[in-house]
Amino acid sequence: MVLQLDGAGPLHQQVYRAFRNEILGGERAPGERVPSTRALADLLKVSRNTAVSAYEQLLAEGYLETRVGAAGTVVAPVLPPGRLALRPPARPGSQRRPSRRATVRLAIAGRTILGAARAVNRSLGLASLTWELHPPHMRYDFRPGRAAFGDLPYALWCKLLAARARQARLRDLDYGPPQGRAELRQAIAARLRRLRGVDASPERIVIVSGTQQALDLISRVLLNPGDRVLIEEPHYTGARCAFLAAGAELVRAPVDDEGIRIPRAAAGRRPARLAYVTPSHQFPTGVVLPIARRVALLEWASRVGAFIVEDDYDSEYRYDGPPLPALTGLDRDGRAIYVGTFSKILFPALRLAYLVLPASLVEPVTAAKAIGDAGTATLEQLALADFIGLGHFDRHLRRTNASNAARRNALVAAIHREFGERADVCGANAGLHLLVWLKGRSGGTIKDVAHKAAEAGVGVFSVDPFYLEPPRRTGIVLGYAPLSERDVREGIGRLAQALG
Ligand SMILES: Cc1ncc(COP(=O)(O)O)c(C=O)c1O
Repeated sequence: MVLQLDGAGPLHQQVYRAFRNEILGGERAPGERVPSTRALADLLKVSRNTAVSAYEQLLAEGYLETRVGAAGTVVAPVLPPGRLALRPPARPGSQRRPSRRATVRLAIAGRTILGAARAVNRSLGLASLTWELHPPHMRYDFRPGRAAFGDLPYALWCKLLAARARQARLRDLDYGPPQGRAELRQAIAARLRRLRGVDASPERIVIVSGTQQALDLISRVLLNPGDRVLIEEPHYTGARCAFLAAGAELVRAPVDDEGIRIPRAAAGRRPARLAYVTPSHQFPTGVVLPIARRVALLEWASRVGAFIVEDDYDSEYRYDGPPLPALTGLDRDGRAIYVGTFSKILFPALRLAYLVLPASLVEPVTAAKAIGDAGTATLEQLALADFIGLGHFDRHLRRTNASNAARRNALVAAIHREFGERADVCGANAGLHLLVWLKGRSGGTIKDVAHKAAEAGVGVFSVDPFYLEPPRRTGIVLGYAPLSERDVREGIGRLAQALG
């Protein structure tokens, strides 16, 4: 008998694994007698204790049995059939990865999800779907979608979170309601009524782990594979992958200077089931949807029986006047679904967002949430309810509105100064990013622009991935909230220099 030890981890586990592999691999027959622990220790030049520990584990798991009398310890007579040789655990630090392309028969839903993720990865140049920083952070990083992290009253947030953790009663450590904690839903409802013109009772609010989960839940309960979804062109890629993952057929609704236009295809024989819109600050063009088009959209939805998903991701930042009321506030027919997030005003790692649903969708969406993850983490919900209730959220918003306006002003001025007639700025009056169309041959193709910018330490991001059919012009989306005014000015100066 030559037992093959694999050299990984403690000796008794190596002996245990070697025996187990031989038994499962059929090299030791059921009922076969195994050496005594003393004989095994001699044979393998290990201590007796090592042999005893290995046998104890094999006995406990049923690979070996002890027989009273002469037979001693034997291989269990009844074992699972087949050759199941088990691999040793990876050595610490070793990089044994499962093959990415290992074949497994996925369900239709699994294949559709993977297809959606890979399609979006291709357009964003990602290896796998993620919202993390990518590519490496640049000195002057104008990546869109980031909040003003430096302005956060983070110490205060930590204090509130710690207080909730300290005060937690036993029942606060148990599962929370899948719909979300009432304290937070009440705080959100009061703000929405006051500031967004949305008459949201807490009963119609569902707390979710980010806009992304909101879109996933909506897709699950409303879309069949093949259903049409009207999506702005250009649009937020997170929405695109949620709808594609549900097997939806995307119908592009072009965005002009006044926002989304409803295409004929949306109302034909096979009308869209859902429309996804960002009316307060279209992503990524920044256009604000005027009232006539809002009403037309709601009328279309009522006529064809579609739902409208209003993604109100960054509307509370508005620099040239008060925020516009949300489209959902105009809905009289239960067609609008409102999605709000805390990723833009606070920070995305919080993973807290909310849905305001028509009454008809509260039960199915809450059920999908309960089945999906049994509810969002509760201590953060309670701390956020305190943060809002004690007035910190509004104070932070007022402060960041002023600091983001200053960054926005610095950015627009720098673009005018450095590029003059060669650049058109869009969507600068709200949100945390703006779009710049580079005219003529400023810097060449978007790839050239991004490359030259990166060499100068400036991270700029093409508008192309936000289109299903990228435009011929060169557009860059510039996020500015995490940058200082000085960095904004320097970054644009370096960009202009790099593009020549
Ligand atoms: C249009 C749009 N909606 C929503 C979000 C936020 O998503 P989440 O709430 O999942 O962090 C973003 C973030 O970049 C966005 O650009």
